[in-house]
Amino acid sequence: MGDAFSDYLIDTINKGSLALMLSIGHRTRLFDILSTMPPSTVDEISKKAKLNQRYVKEWLGTMVTGKIIDYDSSNSKFNLPKEKAQFLTREDNLYNFSASMQWIPVLAQVEDKIIDCFHSGGGVPYSSYNRFHEVMAEESFQTVVTGLVDHILPLVPGLIDRLKDGINVLDIGCGRGKAVNILAKKFPNSMFVGYDVAEEAIKGATADSKTLNTCNTLFQVQNLLTVEPTKKFDFITAFDVIHDQIDPSRTLKFIFDSLNSSGVFLMQDILSSTDLAKNIDHPLGPFLYTISCMHCMSVSLSENGAGLGAMWGKEKALEMLRYAGFMGVEVNTLSHDFQNYYYTASKP
Ligand SMILES: C[S@@+](CC[C@H](N)C(=O)[O-])C[C@H]1O[C@@H](n2cnc3c(N)ncnc32)[C@H](O)[C@@H]1O
Repeated sequence: MGDAFSDYLIDTINKGSLALMLSIGHRTRLFDILSTMPPSTVDEISKKAKLNQRYVKEWLGTMVTGKIIDYDSSNSKFNLPKEKAQFLTREDNLYNFSASMQWIPVLAQVEDKIIDCFHSGGGVPYSSYNRFHEVMAEESFQTVVTGLVDHILPLVPGLIDRLKDGINVLDIGCGRGKAVNILAKKFPNSMFVGYDVAEEAIKGATADSKTLNTCNTLFQVQNLLTVEPTKKFDFITAFDVIHDQIDPSRTLKFIFDSLNSSGVFLMQDILSSTDLAKNIDHPLGPFLYTISCMHCMSVSLSENGAGLGAMWGKEKALEMLRYAGFMGVEVNTLSHDFQNYYYTASKP
């Protein structure tokens, strides 16, 4: 046991380091560039990537010893095999894991602040997380945007036809607005509103809608803690938003009150159980509890919120949806997104 456990810990420090360097490979576009190159030397790779040769060499050292990139010592050439490149690049349709690795450095930036919270309670506000909205937009592009039309919208019978005809849609906690913008382009007869408290995110979403030349979107800085249900919507979405909330019960009630009598609420949230014992073999357990502790729970606690955390789980989610008044709640899993449940709920 002793040896096996120390091997496990050695593997852990290696994999943690590898995650940091995978993130750098994504941000520097080294994976995208390598995927287009034949086996190449450090010089050739650094020149093509327009990056400092000494840094690229050390990064390649991590990638070779981390079994990501192949190295042929007979000619000092490096190769990213196609079957690995498809999980590490922007261009392929498969899940880009190197984009998700960015969460590790995003979280590591706030380690000192989180340690202060371990001593004194409280939390770390959203504003402390450098690059959060940028990384979130990349992540949800993979789970939400790419699956919207083929997987997510068909969960609500007749919704695509209603969107074609023209309905009012609200996305709460819309972040950089990738989902809203793609839907607005696809369904020009419908009107799409996005609320988020982060000015930076709303600015990015608005800029993207201008680039797309759509005139059926409205992005607004709105705080879900204070916003009132003055307008009615036919379809409301919340992608990875509810568990972060300072007052998630109020947010769910706001959604319920903002829906038309035949309206539908669609909530994407982390696939987990409320019961830790049922998450023991969760394939992303350590990652999700980490992101919960170092972000989702903490941002809520920073304003004396509920601090549900990312691992609030299906049982708690169902209880809260019913408490807000929703009926006919269904919980779905979708093949394109192994991290989330998709809940659909309507009014009685
Ligand atoms: C985890 S992110 C998800 C963003 C987006 N839905 C996506 O999937 O990319 C949660 C979002 O909720 C927003 N948010 C958190 N608290 C909020 C509040 N009180 N009012 C409005 N938005 C809030 C954050 O700014 C952030 O953009």
